[in-house]
Amino acid sequence: MSARKGRIYIQEVAPRDGLQNEAAFVETVDKIALINALSECGFTKIESTSFTSPRAIPALRDADAVMHEIKRKPGVVYSALVPNLRGVERALAANVDEINFVLSVSETHNRSNLRMSREQSLSELEAIASVLKGSEVSLNVSLSTAFGCPMEGDIDASEVDRLVDQVAALDANGVTLCDTTGMAYPVQVANIGAEVLRRYPELTTTMHFHDTRGMALANVLAALDVGIVHFDSSLGGLGGCPYAPGASGNACTEDLVHMLELMGYDTGIDLEKTVDLSRTLEPLIGRELPSYLVKAGPRWKLHPVPDNQY
Ligand code: COA
Ligand code: ZN
Repeated sequence: MSARKGRIYIQEVAPRDGLQNEAAFVETVDKIALINALSECGFTKIESTSFTSPRAIPALRDADAVMHEIKRKPGVVYSALVPNLRGVERALAANVDEINFVLSVSETHNRSNLRMSREQSLSELEAIASVLKGSEVSLNVSLSTAFGCPMEGDIDASEVDRLVDQVAALDANGVTLCDTTGMAYPVQVANIGAEVLRRYPELTTTMHFHDTRGMALANVLAALDVGIVHFDSSLGGLGGCPYAPGASGNACTEDLVHMLELMGYDTGIDLEKTVDLSRTLEPLIGRELPSYLVKAGPRWKLHPVPDNQY
């Protein structure tokens, strides 16, 4: 392995992005057990659920019970995604540490995912920011379709800048640039990431990649090159937005940790525990997951020499 290079913060999103699009309903006790086990793997933040309309996201209709019943590990931020003020009221009643407000850079995706215009979403965000002002609960804003929309196609990077400007003006703690359907590519990630870091060094900037076209880890490398150190990823590579045509899984946590640790970064994550936990997901959701590490093991796992060796 190469010399140590510095800390990378991996934020686990399987309980939210991972489960929101699954056909099989994962029982509340299993969700709680999953989050409790993730808390023991070393993640700094776990996106635990979403406080959305149960009609829009039936898979997470048990958000209140999940947040109330998980065992909280000191030092871990338990975050939840919300689309509106109603979601924030529920999330605060359930003692979340962080509100992750979602809106899309694409007007079309915002309307299909959230049934609002971006302007309506921004006015919800303004109201939410004033509710949270002075509270202990932090505010992150996730910008979906930041690297392209599956319906509109390319989105002008200035639209990302415009929305980040608004997020920063509301004193949010962080912004997440989400590649909702795996349209991001490395040069684009470097350009957009560098611009956000240059304009807003005080905002915690996270990259959220999906591996729909096999570019998630390449995009992580491009983001690292310009100084991004916060990444969302999902155990097993679970994930996807039900209101984005063609969406599929997030960057896979264990594959990402394996790569970063080999490169000399410190992720703070116990890889073995994480892979073991990932193995428990397939029986829960009833389908195969994309994780390479679950299939192949880490690169230091060796095989016996075959008997027919020359
Ligand atoms: N939590 C629970 N219920 C909510 C809610 C919330 N945050 N927001 C609205 N509702 C309920 C309303 O009370 C209403 O219930 P009723 O029909 O029993 O009276 C119903 O949902 C419809 O409310 P309305 O304000 O008309 O919402 P809508 O149907 O236009 O949907 C959203 C708007 C934002 C609530 C919905 O589209 C949503 O939850 N989207 C989330 C999508 C998502 O999470 N995508 C993946 C992540 S990127
Ligand atoms: Zn996502």
